[in-house]
Amino acid sequence: MKNLNTLLAGVFLAVALPFAALVISSQAQLGALGRAPAEDGGPLFPSREPGLAIQGRAVYVSLGCVNCHTQQVRPAGQGSDIARGYGVRPSVARDYVLQKQVLLGDRRVGPDLANYGARAKDVDAVHAAIKHNGGFSFLYAGDKQTVASERAVALAAYLQSLRQDYSSPEAKLKQ
Ligand code: HEC
Repeated sequence: MKNLNTLLAGVFLAVALPFAALVISSQAQLGALGRAPAEDGGPLFPSREPGLAIQGRAVYVSLGCVNCHTQQVRPAGQGSDIARGYGVRPSVARDYVLQKQVLLGDRRVGPDLANYGARAKDVDAVHAAIKHNGGFSFLYAGDKQTVASERAVALAAYLQSLRQDYSSPEAKLKQ
């Protein structure tokens, strides 16, 4: 047992060093990230989320939308997201700093939604998209399923708030 201390020190280092490298270094790199203007004196982005959109995020989580939709636009060299119209610039860490729950997703059955609010024509188009040809029509009442429930209204506000179409210090929009 005379090497017990060495053994314990080894176990401690095997846990502490990867923790320091992975957790503390990413905290140091990104922990202080906040809203910022693209140019000196410009407006701060990302914008604050409306309260209804925050409720809508909870609906998005509870209905499992994240199983089929991502919210991250890849840079032009790493896929065709921008060519497909999913976004106008790649997503950057700062885009998510105000979100209590970040729903990046890891499977794309449907289109990426990171910039959906910018391409949705109007609120009727958003409700039509939520229905998915009937898959989510239980969120609507009435003969023709045209009356949106509270959950559908909050979800639509959330989808309309999803925008990454502003310039940020890391990802400037092309002029
Ligand atoms: C089983 C997979 C699946 C689930 C779950 C799902 N979607 Fe979709 N979604 C799709 C597919 C596929 C499309 C594209 C085809 C279509 O419009 O039906 C789509 C399209 C959309 C669009 C239109 C996107 C665009 O660029 O026009 C929106 C908005 C959307 N979904 C939101 C949601 C929301 C909100 C939920 C949760 C209530 C959800 N989806 C759940 C598969 C899914």
